[in-house]
Order: sequence, then C-alpha cells, then structure tokens
Amino acid sequence: MKMRFPGIDAIAFSTSKYFLDLKTLAEHRNVNYAKYYLGIGQTRMAIFPPNEDIVTIGIDAAQKAIASIENKDDIDVLIFATESSFDLSKSAGIYIHNFLGLKEDCRVFDLKQACYSAAAALQLAKSYVMENSRSKVLIVGSDIVRYSIGSSGEPTQGGAAVAFIVSQNPRILEIEPYCGIHTVDIMDFWRPAHLNEALFDGKLSAYSYLKSVDVCIGRYLKNSNLKTIDVDHACFHAPFGKIARKANDQSLKCRSIEETLVYNSIIGNSCSASLFICFISILDHLKDNLVGKRIGFFSYGSGSVAEFFSGIVSEGYLQMLHTDTNQTMLSNRIEISFSEYELLGADNFHDFKRYQNVGEVTLAGISNHRRYYRARKV
Ligand code: HMG
Repeated sequence: MKMRFPGIDAIAFSTSKYFLDLKTLAEHRNVNYAKYYLGIGQTRMAIFPPNEDIVTIGIDAAQKAIASIENKDDIDVLIFATESSFDLSKSAGIYIHNFLGLKEDCRVFDLKQACYSAAAALQLAKSYVMENSRSKVLIVGSDIVRYSIGSSGEPTQGGAAVAFIVSQNPRILEIEPYCGIHTVDIMDFWRPAHLNEALFDGKLSAYSYLKSVDVCIGRYLKNSNLKTIDVDHACFHAPFGKIARKANDQSLKCRSIEETLVYNSIIGNSCSASLFICFISILDHLKDNLVGKRIGFFSYGSGSVAEFFSGIVSEGYLQMLHTDTNQTMLSNRIEISFSEYELLGADNFHDFKRYQNVGEVTLAGISNHRRYYRARKV
C-alpha cells in the first residue's frame, strides 16, 4: 500500500469587506497607475475598518474551514500565526478558540516569524499529527500589513486570514518529507513593538527574497533527489505579484503562476496567509485536474527565514473547495474613496459601528486596554 503523508485536510480564507483601487492611490501619489498594475502586479488592496482585525477575519476563515470536518472536538491544537499582534502576552488564538467553541483541552498559542510563521506552523503540526493519529491541528494565519503613507511599500499593503486543518489523512494536500531552508540575520523588514507600521528596506528585502528562492530550491532538490521538472506547479509568497513572477522565472518556470496570483493581486500582502492564498487561488482557478500533482511552496519571512517544501494533491480535493464562497466574498467587497482610506489609516480613528464586517464576529470596542468581540446578528 502506498504510504500517505499528513497534510492539509480543509482550507479557507477571509479578508476585509473594503478595498482601495490602486488607480485611486496612483492618482493621489502622482504615479502612473501602470507602475502598480503592471510594474508591481497589484490592482487593489484590502483596507481594514476599526471593527475588523486579525481575530475577526481569523474567526471567519476558521469557521469556514472547520465546517468541512465532522467533529471539531478532534482539534486539540490551535496555532495562530501572525506578525500583526496587538498583545505581546495573550495569544490572539484564544479569542478564536472561544468563538469557534473548541474544547478546553486544546493547546492554543501564537507563532511569529514575519510571513513565514504559518509555514512553520504547518511543519510543526505535521509532526504532531504523525504522533497523534486521531488529532487535528487548526492553523490560522492572519495579518494586516501597513506601511507609512507615501513610502514605496504603500501600494503593497493589504491583509487577510487563512485557516487550515492539518490531519493524518488529508483530503486536499499531503506534505512531502523534504524541504530546503535558508535562515540569515538581515534587517530587510521589521516592526518594533511600539509601532503600528512596519519599517523596511524595500530593495534589500526584494533582493533577499529572490536570493532565498535559489538557496531553498537548491537545497530542496538536493534533499529530495528531485529535478525542477518534477515540480508540477508552484506557489511563491506574494507580497506583490511581480516578485512571485520573478521568483518563478528564475527558478521553476511553472506555467500556472498566474492562477496562483488571482486572489493576492486584489487583496495585497497578507504575510502569513499570502502563500496559502496562492494555493487556494490555484485550486480555484486552474482548469486541469490536480490529483497526484506535486505543488511546490516557497515561504519567505523577512528577517529572514525562508523554506521551500512540496505537497501532493489528494484524490477528492475538488469536493473540499469553497470557490463560489471565495468569489462571492471578493465580489461583494466595497470600494472606498481616497479620503476614507486616509481616515481609516489614522491611528486615533475608532468608530466601531460605522463599517460592516466580513463575517459573524465584530470588534465592538476597546476599553481599559481590553478588546471586546461579539457575534453580530446576521
Ligand atoms: P519601488 O522601488 O517604488 O518600485 O517599489 P520600482 O521603481 O522598483 O518599480 C517596480 C517595478 O515597476 C519595476 O519593474 C519598474 O520597471 C516597474 P521591475 O524592474 O521590478 O521588473 N515600473 C513600471 N511598469 C509599468 N509601467 C510603469 C512603471 N513604472 C515602473 N509606468 C519595492 C518596489 C519592492 C521597493 C516596494 O514595493 C516595497 O518597498 N515593498 C515593500 C517591501 C516588500 O514587499 N518586499 C518584498 C520582499 S520581502 C517579503 O516578501 C516579506 C514581507 O512580506 C514581510 C514579512 O516577511 O513579514 C514584505
């Protein structure tokens, strides 16, 4: 009998109800919008109102993912992967655990390493379910990316959450046991605890990302004894579409790169969620049947840790997709004006009632440094 590997059993994502068209940003920054649309490869970016945060979108994504499993009591670990924490002590995952109604004997903790954290969580979860065959691990990767006004990073803001369940008999993707890793100490992107916006050296970060692609894929091929041609499709972390295309051009040259970028090009950078949204995007958009195909994944988290790993698409994955839900969520988004964008970017703007949420849970207020979430009537 063919050996099966653990991997992704269910997956879903969520993002803000609001977006800014990058043509609008270009107009106000005196830039030809072709630089954003073609040069960077992004057309829209998700913008977050005060009542929506990494927890509320994380709950929305997780509710959709756990709807696909029979018994949520099988989940005994919840890992919340983020670099957008608002609390240095309490795990944001605990709010999610509460709203999902998960059992009390469930480990919950946050994991951080820039955009790499959800990929790290997947590798940890894989070992966990190999040792605990009945267990399932829920991973939620949720990030909101903000750069300073007028900076080169501004058109690459965005945000989203992905939730996936790791099990021993995955119905979507088996993760193979080889990978290539590259860790170096570099100041390309960081966010000191007292700042809401990330600091970065844009050119250095792009250079470091592309260098890591070569190192990681080289190590992956050596460790696996595979050739580039053995990787049928590949998802590259997508802070903006152009860099994922460059990464693919310089390495694997997979023809399906465009299908991986459909969602990210209208959401913007979602850090920990970005790579897995590339995966959902190819599942939702590629016309070919993917059963048995090998998909490569390149994760890059500034600072930096990068990893290339691969998975084989499971039989029956088509039954596990939420394509209509994903497309409806994105087509129901509301475009905001430039003045609204400026208002929502102001740190002291806290009108919790004025805007809609994408899902059932809203951040109703913050008082005495406590965040109050509640389920809305929908
Ligand atoms: P920039 O310096 O303003 O842009 O921003 P540029 O001048 O390099 O131009 C970009 C491209 O647009 C160029 O094409 C231009 O030729 C083209 P390329 O040479 O790259 O092929 N262009 C045009 N094309 C068509 N029509 C036009 C036009 N004008 C110019 N009219 C930069 C680029 C990367 C610096 C910026 O986006 C940035 O600072 N981004 C933020 C940092 C970032 O996203 N880095 C990515 C790697 S690091 C990473 O992925 C980690 C991260 O996700 C965080 C984490 O790990 O937590 C960020």
